[in-house]
Parts: sequence; structure tokens; C-alpha cells
Amino acid sequence: MSTANEAYEVSDITSRLVTFSGPNGRRIVGYLDEGVEALWNERVVVLAPRYGETKKNNLKLSYLFAANGFKVLRFDQTNHIGESDGSMDQYTLINVTNDIQSVVDHVDRFFEPTEIILMTLSLSARCGLRACALDPRISRHVSLVGMVNMDRTLKAIYNRDFFGELAAGAQWSLVDILGFEIDGARFYQSLLETNMLNLEGALADADQVTIPALHICAENDRWVDQAEVEAVMLRCKFGRVEVVKNVGHEINENPEALNLAFGSMLAFCRSGLDEKHITNCVPSKATLLAQNKLERTQLKAVLQFTQKEPEFWGEYLGKFGIIESAAYYSEYFQTVSSLLGAIESYDVIVDAGCGNGFYGVCVLRALLQSIQAQHSVPNSVHYCGIDLTSEGLLRSYSRHAQELISLQREAMQAQGTVGFSYRKIDFDTIGKVEAATLPFADASVHKICSSLVLSYLQEPEHLMRECYRVLQADGVAVFSTMKPGCDMTVLYHDYVTQDTKVHAEKDAADLLSAAGRIKLKKDAGVYAFFDFEELEYLARKAGFSKVNCVRSFGGQANVIRVVK
Ligand SMILES: C[S@@+](CC[C@H](N)C(=O)[O-])C[C@H]1O[C@@H](n2cnc3c(N)ncnc32)[C@H](O)[C@@H]1O
Repeated sequence: MSTANEAYEVSDITSRLVTFSGPNGRRIVGYLDEGVEALWNERVVVLAPRYGETKKNNLKLSYLFAANGFKVLRFDQTNHIGESDGSMDQYTLINVTNDIQSVVDHVDRFFEPTEIILMTLSLSARCGLRACALDPRISRHVSLVGMVNMDRTLKAIYNRDFFGELAAGAQWSLVDILGFEIDGARFYQSLLETNMLNLEGALADADQVTIPALHICAENDRWVDQAEVEAVMLRCKFGRVEVVKNVGHEINENPEALNLAFGSMLAFCRSGLDEKHITNCVPSKATLLAQNKLERTQLKAVLQFTQKEPEFWGEYLGKFGIIESAAYYSEYFQTVSSLLGAIESYDVIVDAGCGNGFYGVCVLRALLQSIQAQHSVPNSVHYCGIDLTSEGLLRSYSRHAQELISLQREAMQAQGTVGFSYRKIDFDTIGKVEAATLPFADASVHKICSSLVLSYLQEPEHLMRECYRVLQADGVAVFSTMKPGCDMTVLYHDYVTQDTKVHAEKDAADLLSAAGRIKLKKDAGVYAFFDFEELEYLARKAGFSKVNCVRSFGGQANVIRVVK
């Protein structure tokens, strides 16, 4: 079936939607993933999602296990996002623990396996630890980047002592945690009542855990303290910690690290199996893609994004403006500007999806610097900011206006002219609505910056093709996208810790909330983050020849420079 090194591709994996009763009669919805029945190793994995994610996020992990003889039940938590009952504002850790036990009930009853293995990620790991302390039917627990101390994790994410504020009498109702509104007072009360607030509770649970337990930590995890994890695992009778190098909490961001972690999880879960059940298989790409597509459509239908895109972006840009003071963001725009090259006389520069106008600021600064250094300015330079939202255009205009006026005055003295203009265009209409185009003649533009925009378009290739049309021969364009599996918390954490402004924490919380909503839309297939291969494919399809790839924005964004 498999050779020592080469993995055998399996396409015979099925996913069956299952529904059963969970805590307080709430319905739990999950997928049972399995390979050929005759190859079942009699172990069932119960796979609990991370906070803010659904069963769909665990498809790849689940299919790896299904390809290697396990049955896997991955489910949506109740009182959480996804298809199970309940509402997210009622989210508590004990509720997740109860969900896990209900799923264990279900698999125990229906499959009578020899082992029920619990697999948890991030926040659900703390619930997994409690479930293992309570439920003797669970035979093994493996957690990936698992959290053991809620109090510490929340402080690490937000640089703010939420629970301390509550204990001191602050009144919370709904609070936004990573893009989802939850009832903060209820959440905190429940943590206190169930002893799940801090490390002491985790240590007490660990004392009750007598099964093999593996906790995989990420070396650069800012949310989870490795020393605390080690202390907890030491108190479990058969606890063990493994560390994956060069990656943070968002382990997806590094495919190599993710594969290593998955490999360790698999090895741990098949220990004690007969030789005949030890396989080296991977799910075929086609099988994974087909199921992913199906679940993406389902998720989109369940989540029902009702807010219109201009409203969504208008709101987002209001929160995103402050990231300008983050070091990574400035570095990123320096990279984009240098990839586009020095500004020359008669340059027509298009900022496609200008947002708050930060690239326009870079153009202004470059021109001002050239006046200060050389007492001359490139003549007849024109910058055009285009965006879907009036909010973005207004913000761009108001942040450019001051510098633009002084630049124009100085440019006139240096016998040059500089013009800035703004246009409202929905790039999603390009290629669909007749006459929806960029407002430039063929081969009339010299530079195009389209920063972090393609991911949010229905047909990104339409904008790319339109950019190709308007660029002159040898004209340059820079396109970028957040990389698949990017870790936005890295960027926001740096912003909070470097900034001395009073409201930095509040601003960062807003940013994290906005990023959480973008991630959810990405999971549901409304948005897409591209790797270099995909970006290059799009660019070449649009007609571009020379393509350079660069990673920027704290290592979280993929940037390509293309030439016509
Ligand atoms: C993440 S922001 C990036 C803004 C800016 N380029 C930057 O890097 O700071 C995405 C931008 O794309 C714009 N956008 C999204 N969908 C669009 C569409 N269909 N047509 C035009 N602009 C769009 C949004 O309004 C928003 O300004």
C-alpha cells in the first residue's frame, strides 16, 4: 500500500453529515470522515474546532487521519459559529466541554470503537483537558497550539486585563473577541464557576488525566506560554510536549511546520496499532478540493453575510487607518514603493483599491523629498486613487490634501506640476457591466499599485487584465494579498506593544475584530488569500511576463511585481 518514504494518495474518503442532540438538547452538526470500512483501525477521533472556526477548518487534518484508517468526527460547537444550534454570544468554555462529551457519547454509541481520541486546537484544548479529566471513555488527547490559561491568553492577545477590569467592577455586556461578540460577563462568570479561568484550574484538571496526552506547541506562540503548558503536561500522568520550530500560534502560516505537527499527531494517535494498520497515506488533492468546495458553499449559506461590500469596507477602513503607525505597515509600503521604482516626469500612477490612501502618502513624500534634495520635481506627475467606498476616497483625500497643497506650491516654483484625483469604481463590475473599466486609455499608465485588494474581488483576474490594458509597455504593477494562513495577530501585537498612545489597545482590538470578520469571509470562500503560485498564474493569464515575488508585512503578505 505504501513505501517507506513516499505517501500513497487516497481518494476513497467520504464525508457524511451527522446531526445529534448536544447539551440542553441543542443540535450538534458534524461531518464523519472515513476511508474504506475494511481498513478502519477501530479508532475514532473527535475533532473540536478552534474558537471562531468551524468543522470546515479542520478538513485537511481530518482527511489525513481518514486516509490512514481512522474515522473522524469533526463538529461545529454549539453557541458558536457554524451549523450547530445556539448563538455565539452565549459562548463559554464549559459549553464547549459539554459539546465534546456529547460527541463522545455519540461516537461511543454508534461505533463502539476500541479508542476514542480527542483532538483539540487552541482554546478548545482547555475544554479538552477538562473533558479528559471527567470522561473515562476518552483514551488519548492530542492538542495543537492548545491554550491552558484563558486569563493569560486574553491578556497576551489584547495587552489588556479584561478579567481584572471585570473583577474590579467593570460592567460588560457584549464584548468583541476576535471579531465575534460574546456576553463578556457571562463568559467570565462561567470561567470562575467552573475553575477554568487560569493556570490553577488547568493544573487541577491535569491531576485527573491518566491517559496519554500530547500537546504540540508552536515555538513563537504569543498566546500560549510554553512553560505553563509544560507544567500542565507534567501533572498529567502520561503527558508530553512537542515544540514545532519557526512558527507562531497560527501554525497554518508555515506549511512545513504544519506538516511536521500533523505527522507527530498521526504518530501519537496510531501508537499501539497493529502493523497492518500503520500506513503512510495522504488524501488526494482532488478529494480534498471537492469536499472543501462543497463545505465552503454550505458555510456561506449558513453565515449569510448580509452587509454589503461598500458598507463592510467603509467600516473596516475606519478601523484600519491607525495601522499606519505600525512598523510592519510602513516597511511594507516602502517595499511596494521601491518595487514600483522612482517616480519620473509624466508618470501616471494608479492606486487601485487605495483604501485610506497610504500609497498616495508615499508618492507625496517621495516627491517632497525630491524637491528638498534636488530643488526639482518630476514634472506632470498624476496620481489617481480608486476605491469602492466613498469613505476610503474621502479619507485618502483628507490625508493627502495638506501635503498636496504645499507640494503643488513648491512644484510650481520648481516649474513642475503634480495632480491627484480620486474615482469611485467597483472592480467587481469590470468584465461584467459594459463600459466598466479603469478610467484610462490603453497603454497610458506607468505604475499601478494594488495593495491588498485582489483577495476581495469576485474575479481578481478581471482587474489584473484591466491593469494590463491601461499599462504602457514596460509599465510596472505591484499586487499583493495576505498569504494563506496568515497570522494577523503578529501585526496587531506589534502595533500594540510599540505604540505609546493611550488608545492603542482599543485600536488593536478593533483591528483584530475586523481581521476576524475577514477571516470568516475567507473561510466561507467569499474572499481568497493567494500564494505566490496563484498570484503568478493570475498575472501571466492577464498577459504579464516578468514576475518577481516578495514576502512583506511582517512575513504575512505575498507581493508580486509584474511588468507589461
Ligand atoms: C485591505 S484594504 C487595502 C487598502 C489599501 N490598498 C492598503 O493597502 O492599505 C482593501 C481595499 O479594497 C477595496 N475594495 C474591496 N472590494 C473592492 C471592489 N470591488 N472594487 C474596488 N475596491 C474594492 C476596499 O474598499 C479597501 O479599500
